[in-house]
Amino acid sequence: MIKLIQPEKKILTCKDFFCTESLPKPTGIIIFGASGDLTHRKLIPSLFGLFLKDLLPKNFYILGIARTNFTDGEFREKIISELSNEDNTSNGDKIQVFSKRCFYLSGDYESLSLYSDLKWSIKSLDKEFYTDRNRIFYMAVPPDLYISIIDNLGDLGLTYDDDSSYSRVIVEKPFGFDLESAVELDKKLHLVLREDQIYRIDHYLGKETVQNILIFRFANSLFEPVWNNRYIDNFQITVAEDLGVEHRAGYYDHAGVIRDMFQNHMMQLLSLVAMEPPASFDANGVHDEKIKLFRSVRKFSENELNRWIIRGQYGAGEIDGKEVVEYRHEKGVNPESKIETFAAGKFLIDNWRWSGVPFYMRSGKRLQKRVSEIVVTFKRVPHSIFPQLSTDNIPPNILRINIQPEEGIVLSFQAKHPGPKLCMSTLTMNFDYEEVFGEKPPDAYERLLLDCMLGDQTLFVRDDVMKESWSIFTPIIQNWQNEQERVKNELHIYPSGSWGPMEADELLQKDGRSWHQL
Ligand code: NDP
Ligand code: BG6
Repeated sequence: MIKLIQPEKKILTCKDFFCTESLPKPTGIIIFGASGDLTHRKLIPSLFGLFLKDLLPKNFYILGIARTNFTDGEFREKIISELSNEDNTSNGDKIQVFSKRCFYLSGDYESLSLYSDLKWSIKSLDKEFYTDRNRIFYMAVPPDLYISIIDNLGDLGLTYDDDSSYSRVIVEKPFGFDLESAVELDKKLHLVLREDQIYRIDHYLGKETVQNILIFRFANSLFEPVWNNRYIDNFQITVAEDLGVEHRAGYYDHAGVIRDMFQNHMMQLLSLVAMEPPASFDANGVHDEKIKLFRSVRKFSENELNRWIIRGQYGAGEIDGKEVVEYRHEKGVNPESKIETFAAGKFLIDNWRWSGVPFYMRSGKRLQKRVSEIVVTFKRVPHSIFPQLSTDNIPPNILRINIQPEEGIVLSFQAKHPGPKLCMSTLTMNFDYEEVFGEKPPDAYERLLLDCMLGDQTLFVRDDVMKESWSIFTPIIQNWQNEQERVKNELHIYPSGSWGPMEADELLQKDGRSWHQL
């Protein structure tokens, strides 16, 4: 059953599952950066996905803003042509209806005249579509523009929010460049906005498989009792990409994988598998547990950083049979760049539940294939009752949470193989999202845009959680920027198409373990 909550009454039925989904209030969605990659690849398709599922309010409009000169008509044409793909062959009419709700304003974000035009456009669209002055402002622009845009919105009274209408701001990553700049950015946002108006997005939290971690852990009684250092040997969290830096060298060659993936996506994955059960599934309940967990993550000791975290950069190699160039030869990359495109680290959590359990995490570009996975290895049986087998001969149970591209959960266990009395095999129980539910999970941005319209910050990042995560990684980044330290913490070049530098394997070998094959 799907239970719908105010304000629009609509009952959807969903036979076998218990679902709750609310419909948002009338809303205007204002996107800064409307000519950019994120808007066209993610935001517009996700808003259209919600529209198709009747999860956008009836009263809505989308207003895009950027410097590029488009008329409303040109902006709509672009949207129509992008949405008219193989997924939408039968949705032609709906695309037309949706596109009529899309508008465009061009101007320079630094210019005051843009904001007076914007205020006028918003007022007239609010009136035309009866959106009750509820507004979402999406910052799909380079981060150095956030403050000036939000200050201008504040000056025009567009960030005003009360019980009768809301004003919310979605801020994209990267949120700051290190702890200091993140704190500074946050301070400036809070001069104009309250924390409950700020939606710091981490799109990994919107992925179905990532959300499922909480359901898996806290809606089943089977796993939680063994989810601790008595039964679990180690966790491995991998987010591997086969793509290189693509067209984003300008940003990436200053950021690197720690800022791009670890401070945000990887830490959010870690938080979901390692946090304590929240008091309730709401924003503060979940964020309170995340902050507790992040405070327990052991800070890396600077003088032996290379024992804990390995850095690499891709060299030339082959992906899918095609030759690819080394990172330093990519367009826009400094030919002497020391930026890391790969990192692998051993993280420890100093609390009762996880004392002594390593969390190995790795992420990189130009690895063998695109795969994101969390592997939980349980401890071996404490004693073997089988005369010919020692405990070392009995493989541990392994739980794999597949995040992408396969989406599901696989549990491996030992079973008797037909034949001689003591013939044992490792079998797997396999849950595949698409196979079971018959549909591909929606894009993460659909969930997150809907949640923002509903005023639910559970899957967004609270300010203290974001800062605590920066405080774990800032010393590492600073250390790697220091020329002398750099020599000690060598940048290992790995061939494109591999699983990263061999030093990342040695990180686990020192503990008598190895990375699971993906
Ligand atoms: P793009 O460069 O493709 O687009 C940026 C937008 O901002 C464009 O509309 C551009 O349009 C405008 N813009 C760029 N520079 C300036 C400037 N100096 N002054 C005014 N406007 C400018 O970036 P993305 O869409 O890829 O990314 C947008 C934001 O989202 C960034 O913060 C990025 O880190 C973040 N992000 C993006 C992801 C993605 O998948 N693309 C994933 C995660 C985060 P115009 O020149 O017409 O004004
Ligand atoms: C983004 C990073 O946040 O996430 C990119 O900036 C990375 O560098 C991307 O490629 C990965 O996202 P996904 O959803 O494709 O795993």
